[in-house]
Amino acid sequence: MGKVVEMKHPLIKHKISLIRDKGTGTKDFRDLVNELSMLMAYEVTYDLPLKEVIIETPVARAKTEVICGKHIAIVPILRAGLGMVDGFVKLMPSAKIGHVGVYRDPESLKPVKYYYKMPEDIVDRDVIVVDPMLATGGSACGCIDLLKEEGVKNIKFVCLIAAPEGIEEVQKFHDDVEIFVGNIDEKLNDHAYIVPGLGDAGDRLFGTK
Ligand code: PRP
Ligand code: URA
Repeated sequence: MGKVVEMKHPLIKHKISLIRDKGTGTKDFRDLVNELSMLMAYEVTYDLPLKEVIIETPVARAKTEVICGKHIAIVPILRAGLGMVDGFVKLMPSAKIGHVGVYRDPESLKPVKYYYKMPEDIVDRDVIVVDPMLATGGSACGCIDLLKEEGVKNIKFVCLIAAPEGIEEVQKFHDDVEIFVGNIDEKLNDHAYIVPGLGDAGDRLFGTK
């Protein structure tokens, strides 16, 4: 069974409550998603390898540690995943960015892929896929399928809110992918929206409805 890590940090819980509120407008929603992404980036990078280095402080020589050359790519699922990129890049400025365009067909609820562009060396990178919402899991699995077809081996998936159904779907097809989730909600409704969720993440981020 793939590992699922649900965030416990009070700042994350607090900010998730704010983005759930239907009274939160586009600007605040965007800022909060950005802040949440930064906080989650901190949690997701818990296992980055370190190496020892010697640094001269103003006082003495110090044997200390730095991250040892791990190559990372952040892959947002368009559109809503775009809102999470800046927060990650702030903490990992040398990460490269790949884009996967997937939207959920409103009738069939199946993922429709329309864009795929990765850094040339994506196969050599650890990939962090970001999308605020994991509902049926179709979009996440569609994106992970594409990355694995290309040969990517180490993938983590990060979302702000997930339904249990979506987590199960990713675990069923990709049990090697660690899932980091801000909050696991109750269920999906008849339109496959997460309950209580926050509505349509893309529309709320970009003000399209
Ligand atoms: C949302 C969200 C996920 C997807 C989750 O995108 O950002 O990508 O739905 O649903 P799923 O787990 O059932 O696939 P949406 O399809 O609304 O596209 P958008 O980001 O372009 O608005
Ligand atoms: N996509 C969203 O943006 N919200 C949901 O609740 C489900 C899918």
